[in-house]
Amino acid sequence: MQYLEFLKTRLCGVIPEGVKLPSGFHLIGHVAILNLNQDCVPFADKIGQVTLEYDYRIKSVAIKTGPTEGRVRRPDFAFVAGELNTLTTHIEGGVSFRIDPLRFTFSGGNRAERIRMGKVVKSGERVLDMFACVGQFSLHAAKGGKAEVIAIEINPEAYELLVENIRLNNLNNRVNPILGDCRDVHPTDSVNRVIMGYLLDTDDYLNHALEALVSEGGSIHMHIALPSNKLDRTAGIVEEACSSHGFTSQVSISKVKMYAPRIYHYVFDILVG
Ligand SMILES: C[S@@+](CC[C@H](N)C(=O)[O-])C[C@H]1O[C@@H](n2cnc3c(N)ncnc32)[C@H](O)[C@@H]1O
Repeated sequence: MQYLEFLKTRLCGVIPEGVKLPSGFHLIGHVAILNLNQDCVPFADKIGQVTLEYDYRIKSVAIKTGPTEGRVRRPDFAFVAGELNTLTTHIEGGVSFRIDPLRFTFSGGNRAERIRMGKVVKSGERVLDMFACVGQFSLHAAKGGKAEVIAIEINPEAYELLVENIRLNNLNNRVNPILGDCRDVHPTDSVNRVIMGYLLDTDDYLNHALEALVSEGGSIHMHIALPSNKLDRTAGIVEEACSSHGFTSQVSISKVKMYAPRIYHYVFDILVG
């Protein structure tokens, strides 16, 4: 039975008619994340309890209560039902992630991008992941793409899981984790590809990404949240930054997901030569 039908059947007479129930959830390991309509929020615990019975894999249920905020991008979720322990193991495209989705972002909307990083990277490439978190992009690039990855993360708690995930996937000889601010600790004249998996003013970090590339250039994947009317301006900033480092650039822009009303998460794939 579809999830929505299941909820409607089980909650009939329990919550008022007309409340717009969720039609799905994002499952990360044993944790189901629900994005509830405002009118559902007062019934979150009841919806959570029923959700636990829908799928044997679900042991904990949380709801999204606000946007992911701050420099360390902590998601805003509230636990509503099941096991309090939300540290879990999630397997995606052959990569295992130890993650607590209530503390670290693991967006369902970024799944295709994570998988893509395991495919665009070529064997033997050197890759810099400037905003590694628990290894969302680094591990795919190292496992699927067989690349050598330098993974920088500023938050010690995320870094700890990054190190655990490298070990879990037997990637110790391919991924080098670094705890620190990517602006200060990135390598220079060293890598063929840079992944910039951050959404706030990511273009401010472009100079550091360009410093990290080898002198022949390479590729940069710059993620950024923008309204669509700022795309041309940002493409101009990218071109200028590349040319100030003596590089040419070819930019191709793709929409990854909706981020907030009228703001989208885009990825700028920049071919730097
Ligand atoms: C939104 S998360 C994204 C994680 C992953 N790249 C992805 O896209 O799924 C951004 C991560 O960058 C880290 N971060 C923010 N500023 C940083 C900096 N200056 N240097 C290194 N890491 C940073 C945060 O702590 C957080 O773990």
